[in-house]
Amino acid sequence: MMFLWTFLVLLTTAYCAEYDYGAYDPTRDSFRTGTFPDGFIWSTATASYQIEGGWNASGKGESIWDRFSHTPGKVDRGDTGDVACDSYNKYREDVQLMKNLGLRYYRLSLSWPRIFPDGTRAGGVNQAGVDYYNNVIDELLANGITPMVTLYHWDLPQALQDRYGGWVNETLVEHFNDYASYAFQAFGDRVKFWLTFNEPKVVCDNGHITGEHAPGIQDPTLLTGYRAGHTLLKAHARAWHTYDLNYRQTQGGKIGITLNLDWGEPRDPDLPADVQATDRFMQINSGWFAHPIYVDGDYPPFLKDELQQLAQANPGINSLVFTPEDKDYILGTSDFFGLNHYVTRIVANRDIVIGPGQTFRDTIETTVAPEWPRAESTWLYVVPWGLRRLLKHIKTNYGDPDIYITENGRSDSDVQPPIIEDTERVCYYAGYIDEVFKAIYEDDVKVKSYTAWSFMDNFEWARGYTERFGLHYVDFTDPNQPRTPKQSAEFYKDIIANNGFPEGADVTEMVNDMWGECRGSGTVGIGVSGGLLAGSLLVIALHVVHQFVVLP
Ligand code: GAL
Repeated sequence: MMFLWTFLVLLTTAYCAEYDYGAYDPTRDSFRTGTFPDGFIWSTATASYQIEGGWNASGKGESIWDRFSHTPGKVDRGDTGDVACDSYNKYREDVQLMKNLGLRYYRLSLSWPRIFPDGTRAGGVNQAGVDYYNNVIDELLANGITPMVTLYHWDLPQALQDRYGGWVNETLVEHFNDYASYAFQAFGDRVKFWLTFNEPKVVCDNGHITGEHAPGIQDPTLLTGYRAGHTLLKAHARAWHTYDLNYRQTQGGKIGITLNLDWGEPRDPDLPADVQATDRFMQINSGWFAHPIYVDGDYPPFLKDELQQLAQANPGINSLVFTPEDKDYILGTSDFFGLNHYVTRIVANRDIVIGPGQTFRDTIETTVAPEWPRAESTWLYVVPWGLRRLLKHIKTNYGDPDIYITENGRSDSDVQPPIIEDTERVCYYAGYIDEVFKAIYEDDVKVKSYTAWSFMDNFEWARGYTERFGLHYVDFTDPNQPRTPKQSAEFYKDIIANNGFPEGADVTEMVNDMWGECRGSGTVGIGVSGGLLAGSLLVIALHVVHQFVVLP
């Protein structure tokens, strides 16, 4: 009988705990002190369209984001990137601010139409654009900051959209390769870390399925998104091979791609349908691009079936099937795993038969725990432990690669007076960076860099300037666009100076002191919550029952 009792208690506690994603779990959520491995890279990131401005300065061509933001109704408040943070003129000041932070690395992107105004090499090079990037790179290096350069952070030359229909057309593989080769040739003597594409999945989903991003194509069948993705994978592989063949030996850099990966937890880990739905969720958000590059040159099996059916139903489109030559060509085309991470979700199976107008995505239901605090962005919940689990997932599923975290961050709202004491962002960075630390030392994941998004407030795509992700506040209403370091900038500076959270360091004491406050405000997503409480109450109730009822 005692055995049955113990079993019941254990079962009840375990059952309730499993469902309680927001509950404080000391082994999961504790703060672990220590320094990161020697040479760990601390970086911050921005992207050309989000910060540069100078949208038509000195020969620059129009990009799809220029066109999109100039189209009424596409961006909140009618905001545009015409001036943005004006980094086209203020880059020297930005570099000084970076220096003040003690930054040794900075991730920026190049604007393709600033270099090739109509997107093609034949259309000519805009020397003023090349000069601009030479100046930025030289300024960074002169101040001891190593540039990490993304070739494509979403600002496609509008001419390529107009002429070819953009990424759905495989002609863009060669145009992208021309542009990439030009960049390697022009800047590769000084740039040693390249990313081909930033978040291809967002290019497909937001640009070619929901239409929330440029070029604003809506296609609920998903077909246009998959076609764009197919070209992006080929274009990425082509540029990687170009670097590998023609530049690696002389320039000695690294090149890869950066993917945005979300983490999914099954709602009921004991329910195979939920576990399978979570697998589909992970396959679509990580496998779509990671499986071809890191596993076998091809899409994950269930996606392959999807794509074949779509291609058969739409004769005349470019094939969505990779040939054996394509697979050989795509497999292994990243020297590391580039990761942008923001999202964790609880995933359940939706028991439906896929009907007309629906896709397999309709079989996946995602939710968040009520305890997870939300940032300003409606999609952004703070769940630091999701990052650690995701890192382990990458290690296990994609061949234990070196992982470069190229973005992670939190948004505030655009209010007056401005949020300069951004304690919630400080809590955010403390929580997420500590999870990276645990991934390295407890799970043996090879994380090589952490990059805060973003160095400064900037043009947050369809949200314009309404959401602020920066370590620096930018006053967009002042023609001088003054930058002010927020509390999080000072905090990040201390982390960089200490290479983490060593015992006894001021920054470590600070985190220790505020960990409770971060928990209290729920900012790092921890705190005693309903399910655990319910579990405990049930245990007590069982105990009481046990006093009066004689179990067999
Ligand atoms: C990423 C994107 C960045 C930035 C960030 C915050 O997906 O690469 O440009 O906007 O999200 O939303």
